[in-house]
Amino acid sequence: VSPPEPAAALDALVERLDGALVVVTTAVGDERAGCLVGFHCQCSIEPRRYALWLSKANRTYRLALHAELFAVHALSADDHGLAGLFGTTSGDEVDKFAHCSWTPGPGGVPILDDCPDHVVLRRVTLLDDGSDHVCLVTEPSGEAGRRARGARGGGGPLRLSQARHLDAGHDAEERPDPAAPAAGEP
Ligand SMILES: Cc1cc2nc3c(=O)[nH]c(=O)nc-3n(C[C@H](O)[C@H](O)[C@H](O)COP(=O)(O)O)c2cc1C
Repeated sequence: VSPPEPAAALDALVERLDGALVVVTTAVGDERAGCLVGFHCQCSIEPRRYALWLSKANRTYRLALHAELFAVHALSADDHGLAGLFGTTSGDEVDKFAHCSWTPGPGGVPILDDCPDHVVLRRVTLLDDGSDHVCLVTEPSGEAGRRARGARGGGGPLRLSQARHLDAGHDAEERPDPAAPAAGEP
């Protein structure tokens, strides 16, 4: 079934804009989470604010409800492995951090060693408009950019059009069983 016309027009615009993809990671105590994110952008100049939208279906969202710090990693056009790991598998079933190289950053937030182009952000507020994603408004943390070297391959950012074949680990309308343990938990 094709979407109604206003939705189809929006879908077409979003496709033409062809946004860059990032991996967002976070931590609370010994728990870590992270997922591929296409919904993200700067949303204020002074003070600096950056918004990320997390799907209520995702384990990353559930941990984010309790988290203060988030790392946003820019993916390069050749980062298909990381895009697949963080976008098609869920921490509900797979310990993603056992399958990639990372270093604990501020507050234990995992910094992906293969993504030098990253910043660490602090949560300002979380907005729920009743849709299937929540908006996390953040500001640069004191640690932001400390390890950012801005290094990037010649291919530019990994864009939505290069990730169309990826099947998200959770469909947006899914709501997991809150009692289910995450991968790696007893
Ligand atoms: C191209 C693409 C873009 C995505 N964009 C977002 C997004 O903006 N926000 C989000 O929460 N999930 C997004 N996802 C879905 C999650 O990355 C995916 O469901 C992931 O497996 C969730 O992992 P988790 O349950 O460990 O958090 C996207 C997935 C793909 C393939």
